[in-house]
Amino acid sequence: MNRIFSGVQPTGNLHLGNYLGAIRNWVRMQAEYDCIFCIVDMHAITVPQEPAQLRAHTREVTAAFIASGIDPEGCIIFNQSQVSGHAELAWILNCMTPMGWLNRMTQFKEKAGKHRENALVGLFVYPVLMAADILLYKATHVPVGEDQKQHLELSRDIAGAFNRQFDVDYFPLPEPQIMATAARVMSLRDGRKKMSKSDESDFSRINMTDDADTIAQKIRKARTDPEPLPETVAGLESRPEAANLVGIYAALTDSTSEAVCTQFGGALFSSFKNDLVDVMIGVIEPIGREMRRMLADPGYVDAILDRGGERAGAIAAANLAEIKQIVGFRQPGHA
Ligand code: TYM
Repeated sequence: MNRIFSGVQPTGNLHLGNYLGAIRNWVRMQAEYDCIFCIVDMHAITVPQEPAQLRAHTREVTAAFIASGIDPEGCIIFNQSQVSGHAELAWILNCMTPMGWLNRMTQFKEKAGKHRENALVGLFVYPVLMAADILLYKATHVPVGEDQKQHLELSRDIAGAFNRQFDVDYFPLPEPQIMATAARVMSLRDGRKKMSKSDESDFSRINMTDDADTIAQKIRKARTDPEPLPETVAGLESRPEAANLVGIYAALTDSTSEAVCTQFGGALFSSFKNDLVDVMIGVIEPIGREMRRMLADPGYVDAILDRGGERAGAIAAANLAEIKQIVGFRQPGHA
């Protein structure tokens, strides 16, 4: 059976990029795959988090998954720290991952900045925990946005290193699944920067909880250039803000940038933005409304996470026992 594993950090400001790049695709895949979706709170603390906020954001991401259409019965939804196997397997994999592999990770370089000596060890080994997340469930497919591609290649390398070291064919090499449209949604203020939870300008992103007025205001203020929309995608080259808005429209309407250029070529951005506002409100506002409704009853969300933790924990425990056996750890009840 093909199994999907994917995750989102509960670091607040869940945005349109997370939705179009990841969550929306999960909704579409859930019928065909055995799915495990994780709120990766252990990844979140690689950057200091305020405890009450971390808990609130964990519930918020859970509500976003369900409000977007993920079925909590068919899929497993849980927060990572409930299943201690993630940390245990991460340790084993840390002992198989050369530092050189981690030194190449661009996300670490960006996040650590100039002061590498002060960077936290957790941030450095973050991709190993991510490999552990995926491999703990022997997931075969990992649907993510473009920014996670390098981490997934590393997960494959780590899986291969484990299999080789112990001369086993235990871990499947997980396949990244990156969609063609909206794999990289960019900031509304700067078309060369990705839309991000941590951008200090709220006008750089559409949050999943933004109401219709806020969405309209942010799109109207979104940066563009003075040219009208081109008639072909070739005309979007070196126009990052234009390309981003066209790409977002295409993703929201299940179309392509080519088709959007054919439809709107020659139009001014001021008029295109009106259409964009309408389709975006049509998609995002109902999800935000449903999230707010769900979060008013935290008991509902918590029950889903508790149950998801039990289901994930059962799979993890069985796999971890096999992994420990392969590694040579003595375990009660095993030869
Ligand atoms: P995170 O929390 O940064 O993002 C969650 C998902 O959203 C995608 N994404 C985007 N897609 C398109 N455009 C954007 N601007 C954009 N920003 C974010 C991300 O690619 C991701 O799919 N390390 C992961 C979480 C993680 C994980 C895992 C993912 C931990 N363990 C195991 C898959 C499998 C992260 O920080 O995602």
